[in-house]
Amino acid sequence: MTSVAPAVGDVAALGYLSMTALEVAAPVVLVAVLAVVGAWSASRGRDLYVRLLRHGLIAALVLLVPGAFLIGWFIAFDPETISGITTTPAQQTSWILSMSLFGAGLSMLVGVAAYGLGGWVSGALSNKRRYKLIIAIDGPAASGKGTLAKRIAAHYGLGWLDTGLLYRAVARDVVVKGGRLEDLGAAIAAARAIDATTLCDPHLRGPRAGDDASMIAKIPEVRAALLDYQRTFAQQGKGAVLDGRDIGTVVCPDARVKIFVTASDEARARRRFLEHHGRGDTITYEELLADIRRRDARDSNRSVAPLAAAPDAILLDTTDLDADQAFVAAMKIIEKKVGK
Ligand code: CDP
Repeated sequence: MTSVAPAVGDVAALGYLSMTALEVAAPVVLVAVLAVVGAWSASRGRDLYVRLLRHGLIAALVLLVPGAFLIGWFIAFDPETISGITTTPAQQTSWILSMSLFGAGLSMLVGVAAYGLGGWVSGALSNKRRYKLIIAIDGPAASGKGTLAKRIAAHYGLGWLDTGLLYRAVARDVVVKGGRLEDLGAAIAAARAIDATTLCDPHLRGPRAGDDASMIAKIPEVRAALLDYQRTFAQQGKGAVLDGRDIGTVVCPDARVKIFVTASDEARARRRFLEHHGRGDTITYEELLADIRRRDARDSNRSVAPLAAAPDAILLDTTDLDADQAFVAAMKIIEKKVGK
């Protein structure tokens, strides 16, 4: 009968191999786990040093045990290394001990580095998303949102979108095609076919265009059709400044800064009057005051995306401020939120 028991040498070789595999796999897995924990911790917004203190030390201690064990075991398992360096059993023991300590230190270092790297990568990625500067400027008719938004955008080198122009353009397109503003189908079709390259049309700033715009702006499907364009615009490059009625509440609820600009009805009508007269439009102050009040009431009372300040918007009353003073006040609000 032949023996099936493995030779003593085979068992030793098998043990040695599995230990080597363990030596490679265990640190790799542990380092990967630590990198993930580091990334997770960073994604919760914790500061790197706090995170290193809280988790990095735990990580180091976790790695200390297997590190010491594995290196000590490796040395102990490799009698040739030991006998080449040491002669007495006491020397062997102290060699194994010091190598274990070395292993422990090394694995602690690798653990902390992996943890920090994971956190850094995750932090860098989320910063890129979060640090897009999107500024929402909302407010009632003729409150000076547009002038302010344009200056802020120029100051930061961001894109600027006067979202009122989109609604004005939809109303224009309905009328140009011979439709009526009360015709829901015509307004919805015009909103779906809107061509953003026509927003620079000077007629959109005409005296009746604002009122026409507010007529079609209360139609939910019209608003829905214009939403994608506004959101995509906001996400460009470094970010953008958008002004309108529902930017902070609906279009960009995650905007980093939200300002709600107001001014008395009379101050707004006065500014609009000067604006129109500068362009040669014939419309009276009284007509403009009535238009502003009518539009504010319609915009505030509609069922979808009404004119309203977002709960986290900062109010800026510009009744007694000129354009420069309003800009300075707005910049103070922005810098307080995002720094200089
Ligand atoms: O410049 P002004 O404040 O007079 O008006 P606008 O911003 O050009 O907006 C014209 C009209 O479009 C407003 O009265 C609103 O009815 C509508 N609008 C809106 O509903 N939502 C927006 N985000 C922007 C404008």
